[in-house]
Amino acid sequence: MSFDSDYLWLEGDFVPFEDAKVHFLTSSLHYGTGIFEGIRSYTTPNGPAVFRLKDHIDRFFKSAKILGYRDLPYSKETIVEACLELIRRNGFEECYIRPLIYIKGGGWNLVVDDVEVEMGIAAWKWGNYLGEDALKYGIRANIATNSRLHPNITMTKGKIAGNYVNSVLAKTESLRAGFDEAILLDPSGTVAEGTGENIFVVEDGVIYTPPREMILEGLTRDSIIAIAHDIGYTVKEEKISRDQLYIADEVFVTGTAAEVVALSEIDHRSIGDGTMGPICAKLQKIYHEAVRGRLDGYSRWLDYVHDNQSTIQKGT
Ligand SMILES: Cc1ncc(COP(=O)(O)O)c(C=O)c1O
Repeated sequence: MSFDSDYLWLEGDFVPFEDAKVHFLTSSLHYGTGIFEGIRSYTTPNGPAVFRLKDHIDRFFKSAKILGYRDLPYSKETIVEACLELIRRNGFEECYIRPLIYIKGGGWNLVVDDVEVEMGIAAWKWGNYLGEDALKYGIRANIATNSRLHPNITMTKGKIAGNYVNSVLAKTESLRAGFDEAILLDPSGTVAEGTGENIFVVEDGVIYTPPREMILEGLTRDSIIAIAHDIGYTVKEEKISRDQLYIADEVFVTGTAAEVVALSEIDHRSIGDGTMGPICAKLQKIYHEAVRGRLDGYSRWLDYVHDNQSTIQKGT
C-alpha cells in the first residue's frame, strides 16, 4: 500500500511525510501500547468535512484511559484542530485520518506510568477498505477460529494497538482461506464483530446487533442505528448466534474504513439471495449521503475543514 500524503503532524509539528519517523526503541512498537483512531473526511457541497471528528477524539481519550494512561500531552481541542489543519495542508477532500498515541520514552517495565507519551496524526487518500465491489455486491465472510477479546483479558472498547493482533489473526486466516473478511465470536460463543467492523442482522424487517459489552462501540454502528430509527426501523441490541447469521434475511457490517457492506455469504452459506439486501442498501445510501453533507438532518455529525481556520501555526 502506498500512501498519498505530503504531511503528517508529529509530536506537535507538521512535518513532511518522509521525515515522520520514530525510533526503533519506542516501547509501544514492542508491547502494543499504542492508542489509535480511524476517521474519514468526505467531500460535501461546502468543501471537505470530517465525519464525527469530536466523537472519534472522545473515543481516542477513552481508549487511552482504558489502557491506564493518565496524562496526555495534547488536549482534545488541539488534536481536533491538528486533524483539520493536516487535511488543509495536504489539500485533501476525501481522506482517512489516523491519530496514534505512543510511548516515546520508557515503558520497558510494562507499565504506562512514568513514561514520555507522544502522538502523531497521519492522513492519506484511502478509498473503501474492502473495495468498491464490496460496497455494490457484498463480501464473503467466514467465522474466525480465534475468539474475540474479553473485557477481562484485554478490553474490547479501546482502540489499543495490541488488541489488533486478534484481528490480524482472524483476517489473515480469512484471506488465506479465500474469504474477504472474518466474523469473530466472543469467548462465550455468540457473535461479536468483524476484524474492523460491527455487525448487523436483519430478520423479518427487524434489525439486530450484538449488545455493547463485548464489542468496540463503533461510531458507524451508532450512526446506522440512528439512521435506521429515523426511517422507521426497530433496532434491537441482542445476543446473536452463529446459526442466526446463516439463516438471516440480511447481514451487513459497518465501520469507518469499510463503511456499510453486505455479507453475501458466510461459511459457504449464501445470505438472503446472496447479494446486498434492501435494508442494507437503503442504510448504505443514506449513510453515504449523510457523510457527504447531502442530508440536512445529519449536519450535526460534520466538521467542515475550511471553517474556523486553524490556530495551530507551529512547524512547517
Ligand atoms: C474491532 C472493530 N470493531 C468495530 C469497528 C467500527 O468502528 P467505527 O465505526 O467507529 O469505525 C472497528 C473500527 O474501528 C474495529 O476495529
